[in-house]
Amino acid sequence: MNPILSHPIPHRRRTAAQKSNFNPLTALVYEDVWRKRSLSILSRKPFPLQQELDLLRSWLSECKEGVLLDVGCSTGVYARGLASGFPAAKITAVDMSELMVKQALKRADREGVKVEWVVADAISLPFEGEAFDGICMGGTLNELGPDTQVILEECGRVLKKDGLFFMMFLLSSEKPLGRLLQRFLSLGGLRFWTTLEAESLFSRAGFEQVRFEHYGVVAFSLLRKH
Ligand SMILES: C[S@@+](CC[C@H](N)C(=O)[O-])C[C@H]1O[C@@H](n2cnc3c(N)ncnc32)[C@H](O)[C@@H]1O
Repeated sequence: MNPILSHPIPHRRRTAAQKSNFNPLTALVYEDVWRKRSLSILSRKPFPLQQELDLLRSWLSECKEGVLLDVGCSTGVYARGLASGFPAAKITAVDMSELMVKQALKRADREGVKVEWVVADAISLPFEGEAFDGICMGGTLNELGPDTQVILEECGRVLKKDGLFFMMFLLSSEKPLGRLLQRFLSLGGLRFWTTLEAESLFSRAGFEQVRFEHYGVVAFSLLRKH
């Protein structure tokens, strides 16, 4: 039996940033070359992955025996971190890139953690309404392009009332060099927000921001569904 549940990916216009995730080389090197260092590089202070996973588990601790979903999981950094930290929870992870999900499965098998891996577009999550106690999304928000608002609402649909949503995303930079770099990255479809813009984005999708921390442009929000 295929341990990956695959759903058809609708033909939509994809940004260059999204398309890069369908490249086998990206899937192969994403975690070891980029993800393990990404927050240290972006926040310009030592920020090991372990610290990020500790924050994820601490903010989602009320869901430790619940049903959790990682949206835009790539190689499953968050999903695997939740599966190892919350052994009584049921973890599902979804990404539209099958190559990324295959990498995630390989890594999970190596680590001996159990996650249900799903290939699907988050614009239409293949889950019933209110199926999850908690959701997490690590870095994917900046990559959703014109679908950002709709996908946040879709996450709200599958999250239980009062459920928690852990989000790591990148703020717009206040530094001239950072602004220049982000303007370049936005040509590839990436989006960045100020803290106020992000809060309003979350609020329009039906979430209240209950915790917020940021380290330079690296932001963490904990949202609760109304
Ligand atoms: C920046 S990576 C984040 C990876 C992961 N969350 C982490 O913490 O390392 C963004 C991922 O989101 C996925 N993605 C982008 N748009 C998506 C969509 N509409 N539906 C599902 N996955 C999507 C991409 O394929 C990519 O693997």
